[in-house]
Amino acid sequence: MPIPSFTTPPGGSTAPPLELLDLAAQYVVARSVAVAAKLRVADHLADGPRSAEELAGLCGAHPRSLYRMLRLLAAAGIFAKTGDDRFSLTPLGDCLRADHPVSMGSFFRMLDGPAGRIAFEIGHTVRTGEPADQLVLGAELFEYLAKHPEDSADFDEAMTDLRKQFTGPILMAYDFSQFTTIVDIAGGQGFFLQCLLAGNPTVKGVLFDQPHVVEAGRAAMAEAGLAERCEVVSGDFFESVPAGADGYCLSWIIHDWNDERAIAILRSVRRAIAPNGRLLLIESVIPDDNQPDFSIIQEGFLMPIGGVERTGAEYSALLDAAGFRLEQIVPTLCPQSIVEAVPV
Ligand SMILES: C[S@@+](CC[C@H](N)C(=O)[O-])C[C@H]1O[C@@H](n2cnc3c(N)ncnc32)[C@H](O)[C@@H]1O
Repeated sequence: MPIPSFTTPPGGSTAPPLELLDLAAQYVVARSVAVAAKLRVADHLADGPRSAEELAGLCGAHPRSLYRMLRLLAAAGIFAKTGDDRFSLTPLGDCLRADHPVSMGSFFRMLDGPAGRIAFEIGHTVRTGEPADQLVLGAELFEYLAKHPEDSADFDEAMTDLRKQFTGPILMAYDFSQFTTIVDIAGGQGFFLQCLLAGNPTVKGVLFDQPHVVEAGRAAMAEAGLAERCEVVSGDFFESVPAGADGYCLSWIIHDWNDERAIAILRSVRRAIAPNGRLLLIESVIPDDNQPDFSIIQEGFLMPIGGVERTGAEYSALLDAAGFRLEQIVPTLCPQSIVEAVPV
């Protein structure tokens, strides 16, 4: 069900200024979805329709203001408004439930948090060339998250939930069974590695991330019965990463950092990787023809935190600088590719 136009009745022709006005309306809708996600409105509607008053009590919100925002979101098709002024889930709103199989609730909660606040300041980055993290948070995003557990939980869950959509296509596109041990560097709560190990019973895993992130991964590995085959290690990838494995995977890591910091991370991996090892960067690669692509849109979130989306040639240059050689870029059926490299 597409999100409706606000400016043009069904069947009406859309003039370019009205299309732009609609875009501005979608901006308000996206922001309101983030607020509704943070308030967990969809979870409170899972058992059936409720009034705004009832929801406000459950969410800790101002009843009339919540009503007005839900009316707006009902106009956008995220929720539905019943005849008796109660609200219910639509297929779109249903995806915001925490226990939806591919929930987008955590992603929108993340947008209501520090990552979203930084993204809003893209203008600062465009004017100055500098990230907006210091302006908004007085710290780098990951430093800030390490000190704010609720925001960190939203961020880490958002990564896990997005990973649920992207893991299948990546595992189908590449033969991970060739590895003896694969280290998932900054693998978050470990969903990707969990699936990789489940599908490749001869491979051992190491999940590596910051101490406050990796603990959720340890619990998830144990729950999945993979604790025996997966070590969980915490640390700082600018200093060192677990050594001696033949497979190193970095998914959505290098794009978070400028060239200098990205090369520093890659050099940590270069020091650790076995001579016959392979490095896999799982990233959205900008197409050479600059055609519209997920990577190009995603950069709007990354620029303000100091991140960079890159072309294949740009990844090749980074890898060269860190002592690797790009072997191939394997496309997948999701908006991420596998950039494979070997140590030289
Ligand atoms: C964009 S998330 C990607 C998570 C996961 N690889 C995925 O694809 O879903 C970036 C990850 O980098 C981790 N990270 C940030 N700074 C780090 C550091 N200095 N050392 C280790 N991990 C770090 C974060 O904790 C977070 O899990």
